[in-house]
Amino acid sequence: MAKRSTSRDLETAKKYLGGRPIVLVGLMGAGKTSIGRRLADKMGLSFVDADHEIEAAAGKSIADIFAEHGEAYFRDGERKVIARLMENGEQVLATGGGAYMNPDTRARIRDGGISVWLKADLDLLMKRVMKRNDRPLLRTADPEATMRKLIDDRYPVYAEADITVECRDVQHAQMVNEVLRAIARKAAQDRVQPGSNET
Ligand code: S3P
Repeated sequence: MAKRSTSRDLETAKKYLGGRPIVLVGLMGAGKTSIGRRLADKMGLSFVDADHEIEAAAGKSIADIFAEHGEAYFRDGERKVIARLMENGEQVLATGGGAYMNPDTRARIRDGGISVWLKADLDLLMKRVMKRNDRPLLRTADPEATMRKLIDDRYPVYAEADITVECRDVQHAQMVNEVLRAIARKAAQDRVQPGSNET
């Protein structure tokens, strides 16, 4: 079993925020919402899910937004909603899988937040996403091939995130500890190399 995060990791991670949100990025099924909610709870922060905010703003589900208005309309709303949520300071913000692909959103997250890529392999993603059928991008003849293509297209971009955490098929609580430890490690690295963004 992986080492647990300590209360010291928690303290270090909290101090590192300095008013910034933790922004979770990664593909559908990586666990951004489940892990994000628990991470926020553990850190005493509020949790916000960008997809839910988009649905609330539109008064309809993401599937309906895609069906009625198209993906471009959804992406525009997504960019605006995330820009607004980024203004809320310290919080845990889970983004939809495509959000970080937008250059404006990426720049905003880079400048104002701490990004954490929840990196999962194809098998784990498929195991999770096949439980529901509410993701318009995966309503294709071959969802696994679609997911593989998304991995190829997006992983090089997700790799720009400040922190990468490899997801495994373990309890969410364990992944939360790993995310906390990763943030604490990043905080320590930045202290060694002040002003450097390199990891
Ligand atoms: C999308 C991911 C979804 C949702 C929309 C598009 C994507 O969010 O925003 O269906 O482009 O990867 P989750 O990653 O939370 O499933």
